[in-house]
Amino acid sequence: MTRYRPTWVEVDLDAIRYNVRLLKPEGVELMAVLKADGYGHGYAPVAEAALEAGAAWLGVALVEEGIALRDTGVDARILVLSEFPRGSEKEALAASLTPTVYTQEGLAAVAEAGAPEPVAVHLKVDTGMHRAGFWPPEDAPGFAREIVQRGLRLEGLYTHFACADEDASGTTKQLRWLLAVADRLRAEGIHPLLHAANSAATILHPETHLDMVRTGAAMYGIDPGGGIGPRFGVRPALTWKSEVSTVRRLPAGERISYGWRYTLERDSNVANVPVGYEDGYSRALSSKAEVLIRGRRHRVAGTVTMDQILVDCGDEDVASGDEVVLIGQQGEERITADELASRIGTIGYEIVTAISERVPREYRG
Ligand SMILES: Cc1ncc(COP(=O)(O)O)c(C=O)c1O
Repeated sequence: MTRYRPTWVEVDLDAIRYNVRLLKPEGVELMAVLKADGYGHGYAPVAEAALEAGAAWLGVALVEEGIALRDTGVDARILVLSEFPRGSEKEALAASLTPTVYTQEGLAAVAEAGAPEPVAVHLKVDTGMHRAGFWPPEDAPGFAREIVQRGLRLEGLYTHFACADEDASGTTKQLRWLLAVADRLRAEGIHPLLHAANSAATILHPETHLDMVRTGAAMYGIDPGGGIGPRFGVRPALTWKSEVSTVRRLPAGERISYGWRYTLERDSNVANVPVGYEDGYSRALSSKAEVLIRGRRHRVAGTVTMDQILVDCGDEDVASGDEVVLIGQQGEERITADELASRIGTIGYEIVTAISERVPREYRG
């Protein structure tokens, strides 16, 4: 369809490649985590760029995501990071998606769907995140044995950290549990691929790299927490742009947008920009966020509406057609997804994954 509205996302695939090379430890595999449409960046182009830069595995949250990725022609290994939902096993295995298992029911379903082939599975152990994974970890070696006895191949053993950006001792504890399980299995001649590190652990805790790291946020240039991503030198890959549609000069004292919650303190040029909360530009950013126009920061004036925002440009001589940067660089100024997140008490992950399908993605590099 012809695109008329000048609001779009640009994804810099060179930045993805750069980040993969920066993050991948020597002699260790890297899994590119592509769930939620590649954190809003577009899974297929990101997968291709990550694989080119040295990623060996791809990780997704949903069977649907894995199948969609396969349908683009990707033949790399794809791990689904939770158990296959019941009923999806045959289709998932037919698409050569690698299952995660951690319950008796999940194990039985994969074994039945895969028989008589010896399906390769990864056992996820809950070492403290308490979201998904086999619990308690001290019983995980027994469950691993059952996997093998059922004729499946235990290809991987992994866990997920809850607080790698903030809590070094908690992370060490989680790692120790995983290693204890691995030691028990090794003693029985079982040597699965070991993996644990997300972006924060990849950057902060080299001892967690094991056989493979699983990077999401930092691969996209999003901060995994506490500013460690930017300090490590990752490059944001996503730029979100629009254009000024109209400008009107309004006198001091005028109140703006739904609810009249923003009052002009002086006579101002107020720009209308065609982006809104339906695009994923959160309504919580009302009067809080800034955008870049003509290389300078200007405040979002009042309530973010479904399809449009208003911007208080003061005496800046803005005009219809001027480029507006919502996330990204313009001149010397930069607004990051992490900055928007900090204004509304969330994380950069949520900002980029919220950008809706209505916003077309374009690719550079
Ligand atoms: C199991 C698993 N591994 C790795 C990641 C990647 O985490 P991050 O985006 O912090 O690198 C995620 C994402 O939440 C995950 O669920």
